[in-house]
Amino acid sequence: MNLSGRDFLKLLDYSKEEILYLIELATVLKQKKKMNESHRYLYGKNVVLLFEKDSTRTRCAFEVGALDLGMGCTYLGPTGSQMGKKESIADTARVLSRMYDGIEYRGFSQEIIEELAKYASVPVWNGLTDEFHPTQMLADMMTIKEQFGKLQGLKLVFMGDARNNVANSLLVVCSKLGVNFTCCAPKELFPKAELVQQCETFARENGSTITLTENIEEGVKGAHVIYTDVWVSMGEDASIWQKRIHDLKPYQVNKEVMRLANPKAIFLHCLPSFHDTKTKVGKEIQEQFGLEEMEVTNEVFESEQSKVFDQAENRLHTIKAVMYATMKE
Ligand code: CP
Ligand code: NVA
Repeated sequence: MNLSGRDFLKLLDYSKEEILYLIELATVLKQKKKMNESHRYLYGKNVVLLFEKDSTRTRCAFEVGALDLGMGCTYLGPTGSQMGKKESIADTARVLSRMYDGIEYRGFSQEIIEELAKYASVPVWNGLTDEFHPTQMLADMMTIKEQFGKLQGLKLVFMGDARNNVANSLLVVCSKLGVNFTCCAPKELFPKAELVQQCETFARENGSTITLTENIEEGVKGAHVIYTDVWVSMGEDASIWQKRIHDLKPYQVNKEVMRLANPKAIFLHCLPSFHDTKTKVGKEIQEQFGLEEMEVTNEVFESEQSKVFDQAENRLHTIKAVMYATMKE
């Protein structure tokens, strides 16, 4: 498998074999890390991380991953660089390509990263845009594979804002890997018809199904994986909270939802999560709307079925796999 020089932007252009290869590679790199075995395969190279939105997992995974691979790493946050303000994306891409061997970008519209990739002469990796979150998908699929020993034929249900970046990407990766995907949400938050149509072709090729439903019992029945994400994503206006809470409260992942799923079902969440009031936003929501838990109850989040911290750790191994596979010569 040769992914050398490839960008990693939205998974739509990656084949099933390529995605599975990256997960396998991440598994090998995870073992090496656990055994304390050096894997400085990209010694002497440098990467730059561009973040226009906040991050804990993605930033740390890229930074630690780069260091583990022997590379140098520069972080550029939402302020402090010229990008977007005094310098166009095209010019930024060409400058950074002269100094770095790979570029990570987290920001707003997918168009920005596509533009960055068009002008960059080194691999560009999507660390999250409004539309897609592809590196998250590798960690999610790796975690599911670790738990069930396979992916093909399993049923994953996404509950919540099913047209956000994480849900869109789950739709893509599940249809590519033969995982039956169910979106369980109010109709107005279903993924865009065009993306669903595109993914239906992949699902057919890979022997899996795509289901969109508003009905919780029907949606969750027999699920191996129950997945949710925040009800309001970064970049959305805070005024949307009231409507989202109203629309999505019935789709909260709670004990009853887990009871309706397969008895062996696991719970996943890309994180960060509002499962209590121990955050600034969590507290504000409690004061304003009287809600102590949002997309998932604390009980489910802290349960044995919850694999969210395995999932978070796998961000490191999978992001390292993406950097290594696309940068090696
Ligand atoms: N899941 C995820 O992308 O987390 P961060 O926002 O902390 O990077
Ligand atoms: N949908 C969330 C994902 C965070 C990792 C957001 O975009 O804020």
